[in-house]
Amino acid sequence: MSDWTDGYVAEIDYTHGFYRELTPAHLRFCLLSRGLRAPEEDAGVSYCELGFGQGVTLNIVAATHPLASVWGTDFNPGHAAAARQLSLDGGTANTAFGDDSFEEFLAREDLPTFDFIVLHGIYSWISAENRAVIGRFLRRRLKVGGVVYISYNTLPGWAAIMPLRALMIDHAKAERAGMTERVDKALAFARTLAEGKAGYFTANPAVAPRLEKMATMSRNYLAHEYFNRDWTPLYHADVVRELTTAKLSFAASAHVTDLIDIVALSAPSREMLAAVSDPLFRETLRDYIVNQQFRRDIFTRGALRLTPLEQIEGLRAQRLALIVPRSTIPEKATFPIGTTDLKPEIYGPFFDRLDKGPITLADLAAAEPALAPLPLATLHQAALVAISQGWVAPCPEAAGDGARRKATKRFNAAVLERARRSADLTVLASPVLGGGLGVDRIQQLFLLARAEKHPDPASFVWGILSSQGQRLVKEGKPLEDADQNMAELRLRAQTFTDSFLPLYDRLGIV
Ligand SMILES: C[S@@+](CC[C@H](N)C(=O)[O-])C[C@H]1O[C@@H](n2cnc3c(N)ncnc32)[C@H](O)[C@@H]1O
Repeated sequence: MSDWTDGYVAEIDYTHGFYRELTPAHLRFCLLSRGLRAPEEDAGVSYCELGFGQGVTLNIVAATHPLASVWGTDFNPGHAAAARQLSLDGGTANTAFGDDSFEEFLAREDLPTFDFIVLHGIYSWISAENRAVIGRFLRRRLKVGGVVYISYNTLPGWAAIMPLRALMIDHAKAERAGMTERVDKALAFARTLAEGKAGYFTANPAVAPRLEKMATMSRNYLAHEYFNRDWTPLYHADVVRELTTAKLSFAASAHVTDLIDIVALSAPSREMLAAVSDPLFRETLRDYIVNQQFRRDIFTRGALRLTPLEQIEGLRAQRLALIVPRSTIPEKATFPIGTTDLKPEIYGPFFDRLDKGPITLADLAAAEPALAPLPLATLHQAALVAISQGWVAPCPEAAGDGARRKATKRFNAAVLERARRSADLTVLASPVLGGGLGVDRIQQLFLLARAEKHPDPASFVWGILSSQGQRLVKEGKPLEDADQNMAELRLRAQTFTDSFLPLYDRLGIV
């Protein structure tokens, strides 16, 4: 192939995201919730990511799974080099990253077979031929009993927006400028059309607000999301059909909201779903009910069903951790159909106990008299709700924390060092979570100040920011003078010490 990009945007780099759904602990928990067995936790799993972007998730997985062998490929050499540099800086020696295309990767003879193969934000942005290559890779390189995570843009959720994307890409093709400028111009063009009340926008009222939201998003993200040659939202049933060639079957959603219909859907919707006996059609119907735009699916090669007793044992042993300060958790959960009040008699003691530290569901019930009489199913549901809202995360077993901590300590030190110069990485590795936790640059610099024992963390951070000509932004506005910046930094330093430091301590980050 003379042009290695194969129609994919390569002119500007992708964003530095961490995605918890790709971690083994999260995938295991979703499978367990559906009564399915996942590959064992302790036995040095093999893990592979196809199209790893900047390699943030992959490096975090490597840092939090020091016994695992972690592989990945992304054909953009800029991405592969960035991922490798992060690995070198962070000491994730259990990794092998390259810049093979999926086709080249498929042809390699030196790869092991994998327990986990993950691909996030790939499958609907590549050609049908490349999707078939991925199918062959999964067939060849996934172990029997192995797990695949695959996300993709979904129909019907994208149906109304598809013509907007076609318009923008045709506009961008006709422009000679660089990618960022072409994205800007295509957006401006579409907005002019919307403001002129073009028939497409009036007939599809959801499109104009979508366009407004896009205008606020990172141009790097938009370029990769919308401006590739290939861009195919898929029906779930079509993905299931394509992956049967790899002997895969759909196991569960990795998007936890999809696992709690009882709170996330209305009663009439649940009745309609309950009346459908074919699981494939039920899943499709659910996508229509929620107008699904993006699916995060887990497939397995040979589903192993747990007995009811095994599932109960698995759930009782499931460790959970709070990943936000307790004080920030509201009394309502938000779902696509609206908000749901959380019963204070359950969720109060549930979060209070988690605020003391990570704990298994069985120990949590034993430690809280108010929770002890509740059936396990109720606690499981509370866990699902809390995870769906991003307040709690499922953790690997505590026994491995010590070994994981050695690797994450080195990795986090490298991330904090980088925060002196860059705001790219907004995640640190947690041995307790077996994954990452979002931590913004200012808090990373507070952590650095603490590690280096600076007596006045706010001054330390301001010294770095001001020397780089940077200012804090508050409520969307930059704070111009030094006094305002220092006052804001002192406030943030206090919140950091009072609310976040104890959290980072419990998660093994400090
Ligand atoms: C939208 S990005 C997602 C990156 C990453 N998974 C994430 O979510 O942050 C898609 C990535 O796939 C890579 N990619 C696209 N087509 C590829 C191919 N044929 N072979 C290898 N990598 C490819 C791109 O370079 C890009 O980094």
